[in-house]
Amino acid sequence: MDLLNHPHIFKERQNDSFEVINPSTQEALAYIKNTHQQELQNLIQKAKIAQKQWATMLPEDRCDRIYKFYSLILENRDFLAEIMTKEQGKPLEQAKSEITYAASFVKWFATEARRVDGDILSPKAKTQKLLTLKQPIGVCAAITPWNFPSSMITRKIAPALASGCAIIVKSASQTPLSAYALEILAKEAGILENCFIVVNGDSTEISDVLCQSNDIKKLSFTGSTEVGRLLYQKCAPTIKKLSLELGGNAPFIVFDDANLEEAVNGIMDSKFRNSGQTCVCANRIYVQSGIYDKICEALIEKIQTLKIGDGLESGVNQGPLIDEKALLKVEEHISDALNRGAKLVIGGKRHHLGGNFFQPTLLKDVTQQMKVAKEETFGPLAPLFRFESEEEALFFANDTEFGLAAYFFTQDYKRQWRVAESLEYGMIGINTGLISNEVAPFGGIKQSGLGREGSKYGIEEYLELKYLCLNL
Ligand code: SIN
Repeated sequence: MDLLNHPHIFKERQNDSFEVINPSTQEALAYIKNTHQQELQNLIQKAKIAQKQWATMLPEDRCDRIYKFYSLILENRDFLAEIMTKEQGKPLEQAKSEITYAASFVKWFATEARRVDGDILSPKAKTQKLLTLKQPIGVCAAITPWNFPSSMITRKIAPALASGCAIIVKSASQTPLSAYALEILAKEAGILENCFIVVNGDSTEISDVLCQSNDIKKLSFTGSTEVGRLLYQKCAPTIKKLSLELGGNAPFIVFDDANLEEAVNGIMDSKFRNSGQTCVCANRIYVQSGIYDKICEALIEKIQTLKIGDGLESGVNQGPLIDEKALLKVEEHISDALNRGAKLVIGGKRHHLGGNFFQPTLLKDVTQQMKVAKEETFGPLAPLFRFESEEEALFFANDTEFGLAAYFFTQDYKRQWRVAESLEYGMIGINTGLISNEVAPFGGIKQSGLGREGSKYGIEEYLELKYLCLNL
């Protein structure tokens, strides 16, 4: 695939374009055309026409084309992963896993396309037939993040296409190449032209058009709670259906009766995947006092084995952070914690490689008063909090406006149910630090968002339920 054949991607700087930068090397990878208001309005109209045709195709036909899209993603896995590592920074092996993860949503929803079924309801009179139909909502929009440049797109476009919708994606401006590569493959797979369109440019200009348009019937957004609130407001005048996958502040609780080795591996998986730039990653690690020191020692050992560097180098498992703003946030959380009495165990500084690299960091004696207890760090900082009782752990864990993911380790099966039921979160990992897959519903409660992605529930977000009352 030659990305430079795409009309929005240039090798050299052009008028009205923006630069895509490799966060490891700071070199310019490509330049992307800005899409403006009028052009976007035209694209919405094209998507509207295409959607009508796509929706009238047999579900089986849509299924075959979406399945072909899945096969093409896997065939191009190495190429897609390399683009991702270059524009996002994650190590190549993690990028390859993300492509497999991205493809899994396409495969899942290809087959769901054939299972969009209505019901026949019990009538209220002998002459009646009562039915429900599920119909595609129409033209949808998605605004996607840079931390998972492919999978956060496929988790939205696959259910949209499966249900018979068209979808316009505004990808993150840090990672547009992964988005355009998917658009090219979708076209090659036979997804009708203008049913999946990628646009880029000024976020406010694009989101204003998408949110204000009466022809866009639904918006799906993954990103911060702050931006999610703004989009919610902007969509209010047109009463758009919304899916919001927003910020997290995941607690990770380790009880005294946990399997220590498994708990430490769980913390490493959850905290350091994608260098901590994951909305479901452990943000607050609560350890019961009986095993606090042992967990701290075991983490030091594991953290020392992490290899930091350019994601294309072999053996590297920690890439750079996305930009300077991300580094400043990690530094702010560390200095705030140290000023309030936390202790630095390992790391704590920018890495000697320079640029956007940061040392994986462990802090201990962290408390609820510190910033890291309240806000998502989105970086490689593991803060250890101490607790005494289950009641105290639950109080601390739920003491946040967020409710995306939570984790805990215990071998007591009664406690497993009790704690899982008491945690105020949309997703709970019990004795594991990895919970994401295409089969399970992904999403949060409280200020972590609305709706669910993936799973058998994800397609409902792109469907309208119509009720028919037939009098014979
Ligand atoms: C995210 O960080 O937004 C998604 C991570 C995942 O799907 O596991």
